[in-house]
Amino acid sequence: MGGPTNPHCFGRVDDADGNTSDIFGVTDSWQDTDCVVQGNCQEPTGAVKVGLIYVNPEGPLNDPNDLNSGQNPDPEKSAVEIREVFGRMGMNDSETASLIAGGHAFGKCHGAGVMTSGFEGPWTTTPSQWTNQFLTGMLDEEWEQVATSSGSAVQWQTKDRTSILAGTMRLTADLALVNDDAHLALAKHWVCDQQKLDIAFAASWKKLAESGGGWLPVEDRRCEPESKATGQQTDAQKNFHSVCATTTTDESQEASTATKFCLSFLAVALTPFSLGVHASNIVFG
Ligand code: HEM
Repeated sequence: MGGPTNPHCFGRVDDADGNTSDIFGVTDSWQDTDCVVQGNCQEPTGAVKVGLIYVNPEGPLNDPNDLNSGQNPDPEKSAVEIREVFGRMGMNDSETASLIAGGHAFGKCHGAGVMTSGFEGPWTTTPSQWTNQFLTGMLDEEWEQVATSSGSAVQWQTKDRTSILAGTMRLTADLALVNDDAHLALAKHWVCDQQKLDIAFAASWKKLAESGGGWLPVEDRRCEPESKATGQQTDAQKNFHSVCATTTTDESQEASTATKFCLSFLAVALTPFSLGVHASNIVFG
């Protein structure tokens, strides 16, 4: 349709078959990465564990220096890890919490399998609908630890086994959102007004999906060709119309007009106050 658009860059792009990222898959070659302690990887590795995309769902390692020490299902400690890892991706608390709350509004954990986590169950009673039940559930219910059906990990279920949420589950990393002061304040804010969650999630999702324009090295960015970013192109018909002879389209003129507008606004805003400088005395030429 040809409307103006700003340049858009996509986030990470998956390979067709994953061959070139073998070391990040389910292999023993994680030692070939920059990660020193698997399960507690530091920057520049994004996730804490090669093979995961964020943090360990079950909580951080019991011993941060020992891969075999097992996970500590402590939501408070998980919150620390979440802040660290999402921070590496340039996400602040609000972006991080809204991404997790929004992401886990949908879908489920698939139990034990080659490509799945071992955790089992949906986060809400309506896993294919956008709701804030992921958050309300964590505020309304008490949650208790339970072994996954494969017995290999810990997840959480409602203490009240008659609750309508009894069939839902939470990961330790989910409960981090209500076991951290900053995240809890955000969760309450969003539960009291779901539109605020909607706005926060829409913005953080956009950032997650598009931030390939920012954090990737220039050569790895996948941006649409400039020819398509039509909002950035110089007008081929610039100054062509007859009115242009008497109209200034010069950018510096536009900038100075904008400055004048801002200063006028400031003057109007400041005039009632006695700030030593009489803004109304400023002359705009
Ligand atoms: C603390 C960070 C996070 C952790 C630890 C985490 C962990 C997990 C785990 C263990 C599963 C189940 C995988 C399986 O059994 O197949 C899962 C599923 C899912 N996650 Fe996350 N996740 C995190 C953040 C996010 C974010 C930021 C999003 C998106 C904005 C997201 C969206 C989803 C969705 C939609 C599913 C369900 C997939 C399905 O139903 O097949 N997660 N996550």
